Amino acid sequence: MLEQIKETSDFLRNKMVGNPKVAIVLGSGLGGLVNYFDIKAEIPYAEIPNFPQSAVKGHKGSWIFATMNGIDVIIQNGRFHFYEGYNMKTVTLPVRIFKELGVNILFLSNAVGGLNPSYKVGDIMLISDHINFMFDNPLWGKNYEELGPRFPDMSDAYSPRLRKLAHQTAKKLNFTLQEGVYVGVMGPNFETPAECRMFRLMGADVVGMSTVPEVIVARHSGMEVFAMSAITNLNLAAAQEKATHESVLEAAELVGPRMSSLVYEMISQL
Ligand code: HPA
Repeated sequence: MLEQIKETSDFLRNKMVGNPKVAIVLGSGLGGLVNYFDIKAEIPYAEIPNFPQSAVKGHKGSWIFATMNGIDVIIQNGRFHFYEGYNMKTVTLPVRIFKELGVNILFLSNAVGGLNPSYKVGDIMLISDHINFMFDNPLWGKNYEELGPRFPDMSDAYSPRLRKLAHQTAKKLNFTLQEGVYVGVMGPNFETPAECRMFRLMGADVVGMSTVPEVIVARHSGMEVFAMSAITNLNLAAAQEKATHESVLEAAELVGPRMSSLVYEMISQL
């Protein structure tokens, strides 16, 4: 694993532009962020050593060095999902590379089903905490102290400072944000009604199929994390809607302009 991290980060460091301290994983909802940054270099995943090529519709694959309002950023355009069959080490390789390249703040977005009955489709929820229900862990196996501690703390995995900044920024932009707990599942099927009732009882507000592995590795590496969810469908106990990949992508588009402007404004204030 250490050799892979070194090979991939050496390759990308050679193409790096500027001195990025912030990386953004473009999940659902953040596709429109492309209108807010200037691309300085774009490297297709196919050219990057040790990177698989994401095959999911709506998820493209390239590594982007860019600036946003003059600030250097790295954009991971297309993520590797556990349900695609990649192991947790591969899913989280980009986060290891961010760290090697000097990044210390990570932004992520994702699409979720809402479990909290007060949520609506099109809401944005800041993740305040998570439940790992993926039955795997990216830190499983030998620990390399140079990457992080054997038993990393997860008591404030989602930066309170950045959540506060997000609420203040959203207020200026004239919208409000939900805040709650994300339960990460393996997928790829959407949840049964019984599973949704269980997740709600467990204390989750939304359910999704990504983010948890990346956040675990980011915290293991000592990075500050900000993550938010686009609520694309409602998995309510009383009236669960049928979700399809298309309806999820469509609803994520609705959320896009708000999510993108929020990230843009927050990064300008860091
Ligand atoms: N469940 C899991 N992941 C999701 C959902 C959902 O209902 N909607 C979007 N991503």
